[in-house]
Parts: sequence; structure tokens; C-alpha cells
Amino acid sequence: MDIRFDDKVCVVTGSARGIGYALAELLVDSGARVVMIDVLAERLAESAATLGAKGSVTAYPQDITRIGELGPLVSRIRAEVGEIDVLIQPAAVGPQRYAADITEQEWDDVFAVNTKALFFLMREVVGQSMVPRGSGSVVNFSSIAGLVGMRKPLCSAHYSASKGAVVAITRQGAAEWAEHGVRVNAVASGGVLTEMTMSLIGDDLDKATALVPLGRLSQPQDVASAVLFYASDLAANITGQLFVVDGGGYGAQSDPGYLTPEQIAAYARS
Ligand SMILES: NC(=O)c1ccc[n+]([C@@H]2O[C@H](COP(=O)([O-])OP(=O)(O)OC[C@H]3O[C@@H](n4cnc5c(N)ncnc54)[C@H](O)[C@@H]3O)[C@@H](O)[C@H]2O)c1
Repeated sequence: MDIRFDDKVCVVTGSARGIGYALAELLVDSGARVVMIDVLAERLAESAATLGAKGSVTAYPQDITRIGELGPLVSRIRAEVGEIDVLIQPAAVGPQRYAADITEQEWDDVFAVNTKALFFLMREVVGQSMVPRGSGSVVNFSSIAGLVGMRKPLCSAHYSASKGAVVAITRQGAAEWAEHGVRVNAVASGGVLTEMTMSLIGDDLDKATALVPLGRLSQPQDVASAVLFYASDLAANITGQLFVVDGGGYGAQSDPGYLTPEQIAAYARS
């Protein structure tokens, strides 16, 4: 069964690179009119040019933490591309910092993107384009870090808290807007092989892989394809849900912390 989005207007934040880019590509391939938003203007232009060769793509360089600009941005998208059917929100920052070291400014910077901007952009899109038409689908990005405590070195209390809040925002949005035919779901991924992850785990890829029951970290496309199912009409009666894409780590106790790096590497290959 093909997931198709023919002529649907699908907005993807943080789509200059990483999982957002993979989502934009799958959406273009499935017939959508794709709107790409990112703060990285140059990278966004390159990515939009690449995908634009295959289908309908419009790019809007935007720092989504400028909350006052989100209403006008959504109005522009509606006027220039069309009413919005799908909103997918991977845009986020993921700095690594131990709890003892996080400053107030760093805490606020993480929440500004991952939580506050995500809420206000969702509210604008739902309010302007989805409620008036009685339909629409939103998929927000949480993280495994928002569900469980992370062991050192991959821990960041502000990031984890911001991603836990995304689950609450998603459930609240689903509850409030169901009567208007608007669905809101969230994805929590484990490790995904993107620039964000590689900048954090670097040489420890073998160790991170050894923790995954299915034996590998996700590729961006693994997450993107699950997100597209929830965004699509195939999930027409699903809302307020959190779905996990992580190769089974959340569902299993997998802590080979007592193994040497060589044993972990062998375990990952076996
Ligand atoms: N990569 C992982 O292992 C992993 C694991 C769990 C959850 N996630 C989540 O998946 C999502 C995508 O992650 P990724 O690995 O593709 O990250 P990434 O860093 O490659 O991409 C994030 C994108 O968001 C954009 N962005 C950041 N701040 C912005 C702002 N203020 N305005 C507009 N755009 C902004 C960035 O420029 C970037 O293009 C994030 O929400 C992340 O928290 C990722």
C-alpha cells in the first residue's frame, strides 16, 4: 500500500537537513506540495533546489523562535502555496550538557525552539488553516530522552525536559482539536544517524549501536516513513498518540555497560 499525499500542502520545519530533509524528500516523492522551513537559509536553499527538481517545493527561511513572525509566515504560506493539510515539526536543537553545567540562558534557548516555537507554530497552522476546514494532521517531534532518563555521556536535562513537554503539548492539542477534525500525534526516536547525533556520539558509534536490540541506529528514512503513516489518512482514527522508532531500545532492558569496547563491538556484530 502506497502512502500518497497528492496535492496536499505539507509543511516540514527543520527540513534543510537530517530527518526533516528525509521527510521532505518522501513527501515530494508521494505527490505533496512541500513547504520547507529552516533557520539555515543557505542549506535550505540548496536542499529545496535539490528536491524542487523532483516536484513542488517552496522554501521559507525562518527562525521559528521569532514567535511574532509565525502568524504572518503561516498567512504567507496559505496565500502562496495553499491551505495547510499537514504540519510536521522536527526543528530542534540538541546540545549535550550535564545537569550541573546547564545555564539559565541555555535552558531558555533549548525550550525556545523545541517547545515554545513548536507550540505556537502548531497553534497558528491549526487555527488559520485546519480548524476552519475541519481537517488536518500534525506530527510533533519528541525523543526517547523525553521518556526515560539518559545515562552519561548522552544526557541533557533541558533537552529531555523540552521533549517531554512535547508529549504533553501533543496530547493537549489532540484533545482540544479532535472536535474540529484535527489530529495531533508525536514521534519519539532513539538514535538516528544525522549530523545532530554524530556531533554527539562521534567515536562511540559502536557503543550506541550495541544498545539497540535490532542492532542498528535508525536512518532518517526509518523515522520519516513512520511519521508519514501517522500524518496520512491511513491513520485517520489515530490522535494523541506517541509512537517510538528506536530499534526496540525503549521496550527492552539493554545495558551492556559492564562490557569492554571490544566486547560491545562483537556483541553489536553478532
Ligand atoms: N538524531 C537523533 O538521534 C534524534 C533522536 C531523537 C529525537 N530526535 C529529534 O528529531 C528531530 C530532527 O533531528 P535531526 O537529527 O534531523 O537534527 P538536525 O540538527 O539535523 O536538524 C534539525 C533542523 O532544525 C533546524 N532548526 C534548529 N533551530 C531552528 C530554528 N530556531 N528555526 C528553524 N529551524 C531550526 C536546524 O537548522 C536543522 O536543520 C529533532 O526534533 C530531534 O530532537 C533526533
